[in-house]
Amino acid sequence: VVPVITIDGPTASGKGTIAHRVAQQLGWHTLDSGALYRLTALAVQQQGVDAFDELAVAQVALRLDVGFQGEQVLLSGQDVAALIRQESVGNLASKVAAYAPLRQALLERQRAFRVAPGLVADGRDMGTVVFPDAPLKVFLVADVQARAERRCKQLKEKGFSANLTGLLEDMRARDERDRNRANAPLVAAHDAKTVDSSCLSIDETVKQVLDLWSE
Ligand code: CDP
Repeated sequence: VVPVITIDGPTASGKGTIAHRVAQQLGWHTLDSGALYRLTALAVQQQGVDAFDELAVAQVALRLDVGFQGEQVLLSGQDVAALIRQESVGNLASKVAAYAPLRQALLERQRAFRVAPGLVADGRDMGTVVFPDAPLKVFLVADVQARAERRCKQLKEKGFSANLTGLLEDMRARDERDRNRANAPLVAAHDAKTVDSSCLSIDETVKQVLDLWSE
């Protein structure tokens, strides 16, 4: 079977960056599962679909025409990589991600990324639901202040306006929602290894994950 390393954790814990670096080192593929939830949210906005209608939102996800090419994230052929990083899209993604029909709709799409020689998948439920048989599961955490500062920096680098106090509030609210939702709440898989990146650089965090893999 094709090996998978899952990296789950709260918002802005650095999952995406770490997943990409680890995959680069191993020569493996990546799955940014959050991008699928963000793309669904963006498509819901663009198509004017009622975001409270769980089945309609799941239908949008089933019909999504997406592509990942290097840095590009394509939605119906249009590069929306920057658009889906906006906080408004992230907030809507976090709301619709609580819908069971949507999670079901995205399940097979996510599993299809498991292609040789291997996959590094990041999200909330990669180790618990999507790839429960993954040989290495990482639960990546960092304190909320560190995460808000990183997100602030990241948004400013992309040319968006960002305010640390507002981000802290949003992040706490999103943590609450992710932890307490009925469907796929954010919890570590029972066999996950927790890595705390609050005081680690990107390189140090990548090294910890690679060390866990070669153990
Ligand atoms: O940066 P952040 O972690 O907030 O965003 P993301 O990883 O791109 O995920 C966007 C939203 O999708 C989050 O609020 C999660 O609640 C949701 N999500 C999920 O429910 N399951 C996943 N496997 C990945 C993301």
